[in-house]
Amino acid sequence: MTKRKRRRMKRGYVVLLWLMLAVLIFGIARVIRTAKKNPQEPTVPVMELETDTAAATESATWPPPTEPLHPASRRTDLPGESTTGRTTEYETDDTTEEDDTTEETDETESTAPLAVLQSEDGSMTCGQTHIYVRIANTKKVSLRLSGGVKASEIEWSVDDTNVADVIGSGEVIGLQAGTCHLIASYMDETLSIPVTVRELYVEDGCTFVDGILVANKSYSLPREYDPGLLPVTKKAFDRLCEDAADAGLDIYSHSDYRSYDFQIKIYNSMVSGYSKEYADTVSARPGYSEHQTGYTIDCNTPDNSFADTKEGKWLERHCAEYGFIIRYPLGKEEITGYDYESWHIRYVGREAAEEIMSQGISLEEYLDIDSYYHDDEEDEDE
Ligand code: DAL
Ligand code: ZN
Repeated sequence: MTKRKRRRMKRGYVVLLWLMLAVLIFGIARVIRTAKKNPQEPTVPVMELETDTAAATESATWPPPTEPLHPASRRTDLPGESTTGRTTEYETDDTTEEDDTTEETDETESTAPLAVLQSEDGSMTCGQTHIYVRIANTKKVSLRLSGGVKASEIEWSVDDTNVADVIGSGEVIGLQAGTCHLIASYMDETLSIPVTVRELYVEDGCTFVDGILVANKSYSLPREYDPGLLPVTKKAFDRLCEDAADAGLDIYSHSDYRSYDFQIKIYNSMVSGYSKEYADTVSARPGYSEHQTGYTIDCNTPDNSFADTKEGKWLERHCAEYGFIIRYPLGKEEITGYDYESWHIRYVGREAAEEIMSQGISLEEYLDIDSYYHDDEEDEDE
């Protein structure tokens, strides 16, 4: 072998060695990443819920058949959106007096479109385009002031005192189901904010707010409430899938209706797989799941990587046209009581869905309801 050939071979070995090293490093990095995504299941005791059916006494499957969300898939950010959600925090009117001559904008805040109402000369800007308040509840709006407007000089009124009344600076109380306007007046300037007063009622153990069936951490469904996937949901979803297919996208149901007893299995699996604390951020306790309403569908993959797919983006943009909302939106975790779920849609009818999705609010805000386990609070009090 010539000296030249030997040198070439040597160079070849060196290149091969570097290649092997690169593959090794890449492999290690992948293993580390996978390990982070799939943390070892903690050995916590299973919280067994009272059950008397055969289905529920079967041992819980792992991983759970639906809603398998592991901590690493909890989405915390979207391109162009702040992790704190879509809406910019507005100062309350009482705190803006000192610097109310300057219009402040925070460049670091969300770049997502912000729903605001503004008076004609732009001196009063309201962070909410609509106030939703239940009968006997109160709601305070927050105004941003500029052009020398003083919060203390604003006069507040409503245009129908049968429906709501003003009880403080920018604060309304709901009196009767209906709509009216809260009006802020300063010299010749007025800002008129629509107000909807809602009524909550219970029928056969199910809670409704203005005709919308509610299931969240505060409002449960009876165990025997067992409607299956409702035809109205199925029909709307079929149309949605067809139109998505026409756009070259594949949207399908991963799971839809879940009975009370099936939810026992899912929830227990999450508790045994992770912890009760974590389970409560991603899975509903039996009787509290929206899947039991018959109005809910999980699309494609129950993981927030779905939000970044063409299908996920299309769903977020178009679901309201078919009467669906993204039920647990990003940035609303404290209000809904659950982590962001880009795949979980809820049928509420087109009008409500378009109002909710266009304003970037949650169902809880739209209906003026809370979502937390009241039993937990009682336990803490004892
Ligand atoms: N993943 C939702 C919160 C449910 O379990 O119903
Ligand atoms: Zn779901």
